[in-house]
Amino acid sequence: MSCQPVELVVLVSGTGTLLQAILDNQPTSGDGGYRVTLVVADKECPALDRARRAGVEAAVVEMEADRGAWNARLAETVAAAHPDLVVSAGFMRILGPEFLERFQGRTINTHPSLLPAFPGADAVGDALAYGVKVTGCTVHYVDAGVDTGEIIAQRAIAVEDGDTKESLHERIKQAEREQIVALLGRAQLHQETGNGKVTF
Ligand code: GRF
Repeated sequence: MSCQPVELVVLVSGTGTLLQAILDNQPTSGDGGYRVTLVVADKECPALDRARRAGVEAAVVEMEADRGAWNARLAETVAAAHPDLVVSAGFMRILGPEFLERFQGRTINTHPSLLPAFPGADAVGDALAYGVKVTGCTVHYVDAGVDTGEIIAQRAIAVEDGDTKESLHERIKQAEREQIVALLGRAQLHQETGNGKVTF
């Protein structure tokens, strides 16, 4: 039985090195695997240029004062691509109820710490400031909390003497890139159960 590729929308906000790894490792033929059909950002950013260079549609849903309206517009933009899975990879905004009511259970995020330790926007800085000897990265389902959803996968990274926030974050991002690509490579869409659930 041929397996259809899992169709992804990727949410980004910044440099897009995680997105680049996802694009570079898209299976080009054969059964299964995944395919990025749309990349969406909350602002113009280098990650969108990476999508364009790869020939993938890129869209901006500009942040606005009314967060509910922004989440609704984001949901509409993502829904138009009919994704099986939404991947937040370097996306720096909190997804609200207007988005999650449509995509909770089908949205995953990669975070640069071993959750539940160090949630939030400065996970690497917080871990370094705390003085942990081991940190890492986590892929989790997105729920209504901040980095609180069910954990799917984790990788540990040792903090080295002399590490700066930048040097530690780059090693964590290398692990994130490997982890998200490995995870998406084994993603499976369960249409037969009718709920279109994706498992890993
Ligand atoms: C990653 O560490 C991600 O977990 C965090 O921001 C970083 C994004 O890196 N939210 P890039 O934009 O993909 O290079």
